[in-house]
Amino acid sequence: MLRRWLPADVGDLADALLGSTDLDRQVPAAALAGPQGRIDVVETMAAWGPADHYLAVELDGRVVGTVAACAVEHRHGTAWISYWLAEPARGQGLATRALATMAVVAFDELGLHRLELGHRVDNPASCAVARRAGFLAEGVEREKLRYGDRRFDVETHARLRGDPLPLVDLLPVR
Ligand SMILES: CC(C)(COP(=O)(O)OP(=O)(O)OC[C@H]1O[C@@H](n2cnc3c(N)ncnc32)[C@H](O)[C@@H]1OP(=O)(O)O)[C@@H](O)C(=O)NCCC(=O)NCCS
Repeated sequence: MLRRWLPADVGDLADALLGSTDLDRQVPAAALAGPQGRIDVVETMAAWGPADHYLAVELDGRVVGTVAACAVEHRHGTAWISYWLAEPARGQGLATRALATMAVVAFDELGLHRLELGHRVDNPASCAVARRAGFLAEGVEREKLRYGDRRFDVETHARLRGDPLPLVDLLPVR
């Protein structure tokens, strides 16, 4: 299910990060800096807004990831969407379900119109998640992101309020 982050989830965040080889690019640097940094990051995610809305992905009683609508801009009705899962929770369609569910929350609860996301072009799993959750590819932005000494092209996807609904089983939101 999806639910809001709680301060008590900091241990699950630590486990997800410690067991991961690729989440250092997805979480704020403070989350990697140590226990206090992780507490601060979880408290920020738990605060829910006004511009940033993080939902925890809970599986079997543990938080295994997040999906977020950030940089919410109400004049134009837009937000930037991001997501990640701990490695043991991957490969079972959970990210696709979490993203499709977040889209419903963003359209229906937050009243937004256009949801955007971007993935490095060498991240086919994220591209598959976006497409399956109804986010159409709109084009490639060249060398948008820098990790270390490398720059990466990023493909942008977006889903509009009126776009066709994806055939995805939504997650409960509590
Ligand atoms: C991207 C991520 C969220 C996907 O999580 P997941 O739960 O495994 O995703 P799903 O199971 O919903 O779907 C994954 C899809 O990608 C596909 N996929 C996975 N690895 C792939 C690869 N190397 N090449 C092509 N497709 C791939 C899977 O086959 C699946 O598609 P399918 O259901 O049509 O077979 C997860 O890998 C992750 O957290 N990665 C690190 C963080 C990240 O990249 N976040 C996105 C930033 S833009």
